[in-house]
Amino acid sequence: MSVEQTLVLIKPDGVARGLVGEIMARFERRGLRLAALRLLRFDEVLVARHYAEHIGKDFFPALKEFIMSGPTVAMVLEGDRAIEIVRAMMGATKFYEAAPGTIRGDYANHVTRNLVHGSDSPAAAAREIPLFFDRLID
Ligand code: RTP
Ligand code: MG
Repeated sequence: MSVEQTLVLIKPDGVARGLVGEIMARFERRGLRLAALRLLRFDEVLVARHYAEHIGKDFFPALKEFIMSGPTVAMVLEGDRAIEIVRAMMGATKFYEAAPGTIRGDYANHVTRNLVHGSDSPAAAAREIPLFFDRLID
């Protein structure tokens, strides 16, 4: 078994709607281990770093305004194939394509406000985790 780590965010809509416990419970029940956890608010520097690949896209201004609009929960989850498992549990980016039973498929109804983020590759996880955590519990 190869233990993998992934960065997961519960975005400001998830915090505002009181879905933090619900979303975290799903990951815990799936058996993913919580390796780090904090509540933070995105500033301009963090948005530019975390969403660097999206700067200049038409949806970036809306994404930036949304992600800075309130507190976000950041966590590192760990387990065998954690990256793929989290992405599958999140559901498709677009709420109307997200399958029922996924987090977005059960709770999201807006293209920007889609509740969760999960690293989409090992390289992305390795880049993203240090943006939010300078050390992990081991
Ligand atoms: P995330 O990075 O947040 O985990 O989401 P993702 O991989 O599923 O989607 P990505 O393509 O990376 O897009 C990042 C976030 O930008 C917003 N978005 N809006 N209006 C639009 O067409 C649009 N496309 C993306 C969403 O909040 C998306 O999660
Ligand atoms: Mg993404």
